[in-house]
Amino acid sequence: MRLEAEGVMSLELQATDGAPLPEWTPGAHIDLLLPSGLVRQYSLCGDPLDRHRLRIGVLLESKGRGGSQEVHGRLRVGQKLAIRGPRNAFALQPDQSYLFVAGGIGITPILSMARVAQRVGAQWQLLYGGRARRSMAFVSELQALGQGRVEILPTDEVGLLDLDAIVVAAAAGQHIYSCGPAVLLDALSARFAEAGLSERLHLERFAPVVPVPGAGTGETLKVILARSGAEVEVPPDCSIMGALRAAGHQIASSCEQGICGMCETRVLDGIPDHRDSLLTEGERARGNVMMLCVSRALTPTLTLDL
Ligand code: FES
Repeated sequence: MRLEAEGVMSLELQATDGAPLPEWTPGAHIDLLLPSGLVRQYSLCGDPLDRHRLRIGVLLESKGRGGSQEVHGRLRVGQKLAIRGPRNAFALQPDQSYLFVAGGIGITPILSMARVAQRVGAQWQLLYGGRARRSMAFVSELQALGQGRVEILPTDEVGLLDLDAIVVAAAAGQHIYSCGPAVLLDALSARFAEAGLSERLHLERFAPVVPVPGAGTGETLKVILARSGAEVEVPPDCSIMGALRAAGHQIASSCEQGICGMCETRVLDGIPDHRDSLLTEGERARGNVMMLCVSRALTPTLTLDL
């Protein structure tokens, strides 16, 4: 455990038997199963080539739901924890050049992306915003890695990130990878949608977009499971995931808030009513995948590849 900045602790995780850890790619996250029973998702921010250590960065959120308080306040060096994953819903697509935009603790997935971009010889630039320099983690590591490619932009010194410049870069063909607080990601999403460039914006969120109607609000719908032919009725006050589980079907999940992508399922027929915070506008328009934990349907019936 290491205090990286004000309120940010990094944790290095190793297998108890020293065995190699599962492979992962930049943008991946793990579920951390805390001793209290809480399960929280954290992006991996170490080096994907290091098969013996996983590193995460955890921001203390005193008004959060308790996970970060447990990490900061109760975990101790050497303590045994279980994890699930890694999984990746924010993968870096092969490209010649990248513009990374991080806000606060959103630097964690971006740090491993920058490391890999550097390793493969891609052009890359990072705009790293944060409340104040003292609260921004991994600054010296990034500067050593990037050597001029990294701009550290604390709000109390230089103001907010220049979103227009980011849109201009995207208009010139650049793909943007961004992670950070909802206020930043919402503003970026709105600008990119306005400019018709949503396909060039790749985001990862820590919390669901609000307001979204809950998964358990809507009309009754019927779900057909294509592989078995089973039909399951989803009542208005229940999620598709909940109804499928109640009918005895196993559905893997992690966040159950529409942000991690673990329950993504192919849609073979019907139109999903997307309520997740993960799919891009383009992916929504194609309508061939959906998150079962939060999304519902615009048609009375959905046929799923299950
Ligand atoms: Fe995370 Fe559904 S379980 S998106």
